[in-house]
Amino acid sequence: MSSPSSNPAYRSEPVVWRREEFWRRPMEFAHPDDIPGQDLPWSDDWFSNQTLKDMLDAESDIGTRPRDCIEKESRWLVSILGEPQKQHLLDVGCGPGLYAEIFSRAGMKVTGIDPSPAAIDYARASAAKAGLDIIYACDSIFTLNADNIYTAAFANYGFINNLHPDLGQDSIKAIHRALAPDGVAVFELLHPATLEQFAPLLWETVDTSYFSPRPHLYLQELVTVDGTSCHAFLTYIFDPDRPDNIGVYRYFFVEYTDSEFKELLHAYGFEILHRHDYRDVITDPDDIHSTYYVVRARKSGD
Ligand SMILES: C[S@@+](CC[C@H](N)C(=O)[O-])C[C@H]1O[C@@H](n2cnc3c(N)ncnc32)[C@H](O)[C@@H]1O
Repeated sequence: MSSPSSNPAYRSEPVVWRREEFWRRPMEFAHPDDIPGQDLPWSDDWFSNQTLKDMLDAESDIGTRPRDCIEKESRWLVSILGEPQKQHLLDVGCGPGLYAEIFSRAGMKVTGIDPSPAAIDYARASAAKAGLDIIYACDSIFTLNADNIYTAAFANYGFINNLHPDLGQDSIKAIHRALAPDGVAVFELLHPATLEQFAPLLWETVDTSYFSPRPHLYLQELVTVDGTSCHAFLTYIFDPDRPDNIGVYRYFFVEYTDSEFKELLHAYGFEILHRHDYRDVITDPDDIHSTYYVVRARKSGD
C-alpha cells in the first residue's frame, strides 16, 4: 500500500483547508441572506443543459414529473380554467415545454418563460416540429415585462418553495402584475415536512454534476435559518485541480403552511379560490407525488 506521500491521491497540504472560511461549519444563519453562495445558475450553459437532460428523461422525476402525471395535471388545469380558446396562459418556469404543449394542443394560447437557454431552445424546436404556436421567452419571472395580459398563470413543482423567500414574494408580485383582472394563478407547492425525504448531508466524488463538467468533490449540507422554516441546500463544488475556485451554491426550500401561503397571496392582491390535494389533481389516491398541493387564486382588484 502506498504511503500518503507517494500516493498522488494524497496531497501534502489538504488544499481545501487553506481556505479559512471552510474551517467554520456554516451552521447558524439568522437570515436567508446570511446563507452564502449563488442561487442556482439556471442560465449557465452547462447547468442549463444538464437540467434539461434530466427533465427530458422520462424515467426520472428530477426536474419534472413522469409524463402520465404531466398529462393528467395539464388536463385538470385545462378543465378547471374553462373554455381553452379564451385563455392566454403564462407557464412560469416552463422548462422544455412539456406542459405548455398540452395546454396549446387543448386550444389555449400559451406563453412559456424560463431563464434556461437549453430548455427554451428545446421547447421552441419541439413546438415548431409539432406545429404548435407557443410563445417562448428566455427570461426570468422577475424581469418579465408584462402587465394585465394573461388570463391564467401556472407555477408548478414547488417553484415558489425553491426560491429565497424574498424572491418567492417577488414571483407572486410579478405573476399578479402579469395577470389580467380576474386572471387565475395556479401555484403548486410542496407540503411542509417534504424536507424529511432529503439527505441532510451529502459528500461524494463525482465525474460531473449540474455544477461542473469536471471530476470534483460534491459537498452538500441542509441548513436552516434559525427559528424559521427557511432551509437551503448549501453546496460546495471542489475541483482539486482548481483549488482556488471553489463553487458555492445555495438552493432554497422554504416551507409554507397553508395559512402563511394564503396570507402571502392576500397581501399581493389575490383572492383564494381553492386548495387542491395533488392526488385529486391527478385523480390517483396512491400517487407518491402527493407531497404537493395546488392553490388556485384569482387576481382581485389592483
Ligand atoms: C423544476 S423545473 C420545472 C420545469 C417545468 N415547469 C416542468 O414541470 O416540466 C423548474 C424550472 O424553473 C425555471 N426557473 C428557475 N428560475 C426561474 C425564474 N426566475 N423565472 C422563471 N423560471 C425559472 C428553471 O429554469 C426550470 O426550468
